[in-house]
Amino acid sequence: MLQVKALQKSFDGFLAVNDTTLNVEKGDVVAVIGPNGAGKTTLFHLITGQLAPTSGSILFKEENIAGMLPYLVCRKGISRSYQVVNIFNRLTVFENVQVAVLSYRKKTFNIFQPAKTMAVSETRKILGSVGLLDKSEMTSGSLSHGDQKVLEIAIALGNRPELLILDEPTAGMSPEETAVTLRLMERLSGELGLTILFCEHDMGMVFSIASRIMVMKQGKSIIQGSPDEVRNNQQVREAYLGGADQCST
Ligand SMILES: Nc1ncnc2c1ncn2[C@@H]1O[C@H](COP(=O)(O)OP(=O)(O)O)[C@@H](O)[C@H]1O
Ligand SMILES: [Mg+2]
Repeated sequence: MLQVKALQKSFDGFLAVNDTTLNVEKGDVVAVIGPNGAGKTTLFHLITGQLAPTSGSILFKEENIAGMLPYLVCRKGISRSYQVVNIFNRLTVFENVQVAVLSYRKKTFNIFQPAKTMAVSETRKILGSVGLLDKSEMTSGSLSHGDQKVLEIAIALGNRPELLILDEPTAGMSPEETAVTLRLMERLSGELGLTILFCEHDMGMVFSIASRIMVMKQGKSIIQGSPDEVRNNQQVREAYLGGADQCST
């Protein structure tokens, strides 16, 4: 579904992403791991069009989307959440998702129908699928941090993606919230058939959910394989899993 080849992104000569390769097959749950500054967020920005690559290709369903604008990438079927929560705090939970659904349908305004009543059933369905239906009418800014991160996933689902990209979906969450998000990701993958690409520092979570793992170091993809292959790779053990910090910064 997604093939990243020889991807590079230079910031004033500094290669934040340096010859990176990544393959995501339909139905995969792929984790990208690596220490802070490895280039994970930059890689996601390149895939979703927030940044244009310096060189290399990004094939999504056989089409090169490298350098394509974010809204066009989104239309192709890739949606994402951010490492830092990115929602409209003053809107209700319902409205945040409704805006995403309406913008996907290119219908933000209709003179014959009040905006409030538009896309109600699809919005409710999405909120139900992420477990936020009972908080629909709450102001988004008043949600717990964990619920705000889940709301971001709900907003991303408003674009009906085939590939969902999540940048540290459990960052700052309590162990309970992390467990809820893990189950949510399992449901999105299992029941909705979504392909998921995410990066994450919580190794317990990565190894419990990922079907494939790619390890990044200093902008380079050093290995991609099954959880067992990655766990047993000597280079990875020395650099990431053997040390005291276990990528947990
Ligand atoms: N807009 C930017 N300008 C300059 N350097 C950047 C920019 N964005 C990221 N970097 C640098 O690129 C490297 C990779 O960052 P990032 O992709 O955020 O890593 P990660 O998400 O793995 O922690 C870091 O050294 C960071 O400082
Ligand atoms: Mg990051």
